[in-house]
Amino acid sequence: MNSAQWFERAKAVIPGGVNSPVRAFNGVGGTPVYFKSGKGAKVLTEDGTELIDFCGSWGPLILGHARDEVVEAVCKAAADGLTFGANTAKEAEFAELITSLVPEMEMVRLVSSGTEAVMTAVRLARGYTGRRKIIKFDGCYHGHSDYLLVASGSGLLTGGISSSAGVSPAATEEVFVAPYNDLEAVREIIKKHGDEIAAVIVEPIAGNMGLVEPVAGFLEGLREITAECGALLIFDEVINGFRLAPTTFGHTVGIKADITTLGKIIGGGMPIGAIGGPATIMSHLAPLGPVYQAGTLSGNPVAVAAGMKTLELLRDESPYLKMELLGRKLAEGINRIAAEKNLQLHCAQKGGMFTPFFRKEPVCNLDDSKACDQKAHAAYFHHMLDCSTTGFIPRPPDLKSPSSPPPTPMNTLANFLKHLINYNLTLARCTRSSRKVTKKKLCGFTTLCE
Ligand SMILES: Cc1ncc(COP(=O)(O)O)c(C=O)c1O
Repeated sequence: MNSAQWFERAKAVIPGGVNSPVRAFNGVGGTPVYFKSGKGAKVLTEDGTELIDFCGSWGPLILGHARDEVVEAVCKAAADGLTFGANTAKEAEFAELITSLVPEMEMVRLVSSGTEAVMTAVRLARGYTGRRKIIKFDGCYHGHSDYLLVASGSGLLTGGISSSAGVSPAATEEVFVAPYNDLEAVREIIKKHGDEIAAVIVEPIAGNMGLVEPVAGFLEGLREITAECGALLIFDEVINGFRLAPTTFGHTVGIKADITTLGKIIGGGMPIGAIGGPATIMSHLAPLGPVYQAGTLSGNPVAVAAGMKTLELLRDESPYLKMELLGRKLAEGINRIAAEKNLQLHCAQKGGMFTPFFRKEPVCNLDDSKACDQKAHAAYFHHMLDCSTTGFIPRPPDLKSPSSPPPTPMNTLANFLKHLINYNLTLARCTRSSRKVTKKKLCGFTTLCE
């Protein structure tokens, strides 16, 4: 059976045929791909196609697929018992490892996903400050808990609007949404509501609207403003953590968040999340303090084994310079071609994170990201999926359009792709989510294996 056949079969028993909406390809059209196996930087699909994977399961697989040492650690942990619902020595060792690599995190609580980590961080901030409201940024995704599925409303000084049905307005009324990189907007909210704000939550370097870096002074300003008004600063590093260095982005740039959330890489491909911060704040969590948080599978031994081995390898091999050089080569190649061909395209890149944005101008926030040529992006996406790693882009300019004849940007795109071959860049895949509300566009990642 191929991907299309599996999709038909899955649709009968799984809503939309997928277990996470981004996998449905709604944003780019076409039939979702079903994956069979992965090793290193390559994956094999149910259609028999081999692809280079620049998505890495949306971030966790910084070491590539099925890295031998990680698989060995997982098998050993599994053979010793899949779960106890009680304490294991490895949890303490893993927390020690994280706190040694991220000194701002004096204490760590493990959970089972990024969503759960952020949900706990917000509850902790509310419990610690005794306040209710939070400020988030448009285009930053923090998981799917009620009060974080919020898009900006008509005005900054009113609560946001939910981007999902089924969310109580009471949850979203507690949330203000500001444009990313807009310190003035945050100041405006704080001026009116400063003494009600429990936390400001931000992706310190954004990955969920494509790669968007914080402008100079943005994070420093957030640190200053929150300290002044008594709110906590939460850095959501579920994507960033251990992505650009064997520590957090906050630690790298020297800005201390009050609470940091982690996920993805720290689980090495297994489900995990973590929150951490100074002991003064973390000790408000149960059983030490009044903020309740629990989980049957929290600190699961198999997930901890995968995460621990991954962080140890990252610490010991320090692949970050290599990934920066690979990422830069890719981005510079794309940008050179874009300039030569006068394309509406530029590639943002930092370390192993990159996003080709289909517009010339820089992208500083969600509005900029949404202003990119979405049709060109969809065409590019499908073309890349159609290219096997060996034959590499076998059929330009015959670019496949899911349903309609190719729109004009495709010819330009074909040229772009032809040139990519000349520059010998192995660009096979960059994904874009289907969530229509935010036009989410995750950045691509290079892995250690390339
Ligand atoms: C920054 C950020 N926070 C939180 C989450 C939620 O993590 P999870 O999907 O593990 O629940 C994500 C997921 O993409 C994320 O990118």
